[in-house]
Amino acid sequence: MEILIVGGAGYIGSVTNYFLEKQGCKTTVFDNLSLGYKQAVGKTPLIVGDLENFHEIKNALSSKRFDAVMHFSAFSLVGESVNNPLKYYKNNVANTLNLIKAMIETETKNFIFSSTAAVFGNPTEIPITENHPINPINPYGWSKSFVEQILSDTFKENFKFVCLRYFNACGSTADGKIGEAHANETHLIPLILKTLLNQNAKPLKVFGNDYETQDGTCVRDYVHVLDLAEAHFLALEYLLKGGESEIFNLGNGKGFSVFEIIKAAEKVTGKKVPLEIAERRKGDPPVLIASSDKITKKLGWEPKFKTPESIIETAWKWHSENPNGYKEN
Ligand code: UFG
Repeated sequence: MEILIVGGAGYIGSVTNYFLEKQGCKTTVFDNLSLGYKQAVGKTPLIVGDLENFHEIKNALSSKRFDAVMHFSAFSLVGESVNNPLKYYKNNVANTLNLIKAMIETETKNFIFSSTAAVFGNPTEIPITENHPINPINPYGWSKSFVEQILSDTFKENFKFVCLRYFNACGSTADGKIGEAHANETHLIPLILKTLLNQNAKPLKVFGNDYETQDGTCVRDYVHVLDLAEAHFLALEYLLKGGESEIFNLGNGKGFSVFEIIKAAEKVTGKKVPLEIAERRKGDPPVLIASSDKITKKLGWEPKFKTPESIIETAWKWHSENPNGYKEN
């Protein structure tokens, strides 16, 4: 199986590449290295190119016969998308159109797209199933839901897709070699671990302790990046066997509050997290928990990392062995 992994030098793309190679897939990474790292790609062939340039992606897709494309390359920070919506619509929507067009022109048939829980906005029902109304509350969520719509308008017999809506991706490969490395980190688990590793770090800010949740802090569905990678592999097999286009939610199905995640990190590391209670962060829904029943029933996917401790153990290995992220770009 020949797979093109667009955005395969970024966090989830690089872990999926690692996983697919272990399953015997032949992969090629296409990445502009704006947020990704060469080191995360390892020995996989890397095409440095930009989706903004139609010819670069069309040439990459013409270089061999790819059975499928996985598309991870997107901006994904909610706050940034509110401040700079055009950046998000340009990269996440317009550049994805180039990719879809190049796939159609090169008769590349199968597409696996990274979508997000942010398409649901403030949920009206928990757990969130695929039938929950789409109602994004920020440009990031809109950008992903636009692509979902474009895909459902575009798909035909010879162009099929699976959209995977990730909830809170976290963790690293078990060997601690590939993990989360963002120049401006905003995510909870890496920030907790970075706070513990840096003696001069400021206390971790807990964004709000007055939500209507069990302990007042936001509840999220933390899903291990290797479990996400496996879902991509299963989606790939499904499409290659002739499965119809589908959309799946992808989470652990359990919610953990910010305080529970901090406690789990303290248990794993044996260190106390210095923290302070801060204002609520704009745009944070109080609770996001996925129902992954559909992907479990249809593709047989089951998360292997079910507890926050098991997830944080891998993340701790990555962060403590690579406190400054990757050594080279
Ligand atoms: N949080 C803190 N302090 C921090 C960082 C985060 O209290 O320093 C809290 C947030 O307020 C939130 C929770 O920890 O309640 C998780 O926050 P993250 O930033 O780790 O993740 P988000 O839930 O905001 O975002 C994730 C993905 C997005 C996706 C979203 C779907 O990163 O791409 O889930 O809602 F859009």
